[in-house]
Amino acid sequence: MAKKPFYLTTPIFYPNAKLHLGHAYTTTISDILVRYHRLQGEHTYFLTGSDENTQKVVQAAAKVGQEPKTFLDGIIENFKQLFKNLDISYDQFIRTSDEQTHWPGAIALWNKLVDAGDIYKKEYEGLYCVGHEAFVTEKDLVDGKCPDHGTVPEHIKEENYFFKLSKYTDAVKQKITSGELSIVPETRKNEILSLLESGLEDVSFSRPRSAATLGIPVPGDDTQVMYVWCDALSNYITALGYGQNEQLYKELWPADVHVIGKDILRFHAAIWPAMLLSAGLPLPKSLLVHGFITSGGKKMSKTLGNVIDPEELLAEYGTDAVRYYLARHISPFEDGDITRESFKELYNANLANGLGNLAARIMQLAQTHLSAPVEVGEIEYPKGYKPAFERYQVNDAFDEVFRRIQALDQAITHTEPFKVIKVDAEKGRELITNLVKELGAVAVLLEPFLPQTSKKISEAVAANKKPENLFPRKD
Ligand code: MSP
Repeated sequence: MAKKPFYLTTPIFYPNAKLHLGHAYTTTISDILVRYHRLQGEHTYFLTGSDENTQKVVQAAAKVGQEPKTFLDGIIENFKQLFKNLDISYDQFIRTSDEQTHWPGAIALWNKLVDAGDIYKKEYEGLYCVGHEAFVTEKDLVDGKCPDHGTVPEHIKEENYFFKLSKYTDAVKQKITSGELSIVPETRKNEILSLLESGLEDVSFSRPRSAATLGIPVPGDDTQVMYVWCDALSNYITALGYGQNEQLYKELWPADVHVIGKDILRFHAAIWPAMLLSAGLPLPKSLLVHGFITSGGKKMSKTLGNVIDPEELLAEYGTDAVRYYLARHISPFEDGDITRESFKELYNANLANGLGNLAARIMQLAQTHLSAPVEVGEIEYPKGYKPAFERYQVNDAFDEVFRRIQALDQAITHTEPFKVIKVDAEKGRELITNLVKELGAVAVLLEPFLPQTSKKISEAVAANKKPENLFPRKD
């Protein structure tokens, strides 16, 4: 039987504001993982999208005096433009406001939870943080405010539908400890296991329509809409036609990996698996939980003035330069830092003076001294490249390529083909041919990370021509 396509998802993003570099990170490493699998000849499916049925959107639209729909259409265009500028090769962009694609599946899943006896109605009184789109408790607050959003949560007393999450504590724990649901890295696995140790509480799964205004009606009760996380998590299967035309769903589910940030671990490692267990559906195979990007060691914030807009970097340095920094200089397993200074320094050192210069030197020699293009042939993968990808360590895989780039640089210095060619033309041509072959191999290995550069180098090799300046130096 043919291998199941590799199915990867990103979180669906809140469209209440433009995306920042942290969001660009999630999406870029996701794209790199998918491209790696494509490079291995596998079929892949890459899902991303937007999480639209939220109070945040209603508030953000009201602030600029727009209807939510107009506001959303504008911002989604903006998301897609950013993804285009980052060369994100997604197959599908799901919008949870899409009543044709998303709603039928979300409703079908809700009905499954009802059939399992896991949904019940209850009067609820508590605190709700719109920033988190979640109920919070007094102990989550500092001076009465949410420390992440700096806002006072709303006090809510309402009748909601609840999901019996508590019932699934042990079953979810078992799936995680057995590795059936793998959580990478280990630190995040331990974090969720210790949360499960203290037991899960049932969660509110709906809000009164008046409070939320946007949202999927609860089947059989128009006065309530689904809680945004219940609605949002289901996107990973509704996008595939779950509950309506299930062809893609059957082909692709379970997902190979959900890529998420550390702040949304609990939703993906506790609530989502419990929902799937309740509905009798298979669990995703793994979660890759990455850290946060900070700037100058601090959380990016407008007040601190350290926010870095991905569009700004893209306009100044280009697609592959931004992908380069995110992929190589941020570990997917920890928090990572970026400043404009570190970006420029690493760009100049490793792309302008490094890779760009190397490709130009080799192809200049080839263009001058070889009469025909060099055939690259079968390429040899660095030993650690595939294993690093298999454990989602994108930065390590990239380092493997850069070791090859450095070795190639040293090979020029040691063999001095530009001198040899003057005294022994045949030997000189042989040395240059070997350099071009290795440059061609590097281009292939670079494809997941720097797709445009990879293509430009491969084209230069195929045409036996020096490429245009790949990475102009920045002063
Ligand atoms: N809508 C929810 C996800 C629902 S998935 C069913 C959400 N959206 S979000 O727009 O707030 O965040 C999307 C992703 O961006 C999350 O994975 C989050 O961790 C990530 N990041 C947000 N800020 C980040 C950084 N500063 N650094 C890295 N990633 C960060 O949560």
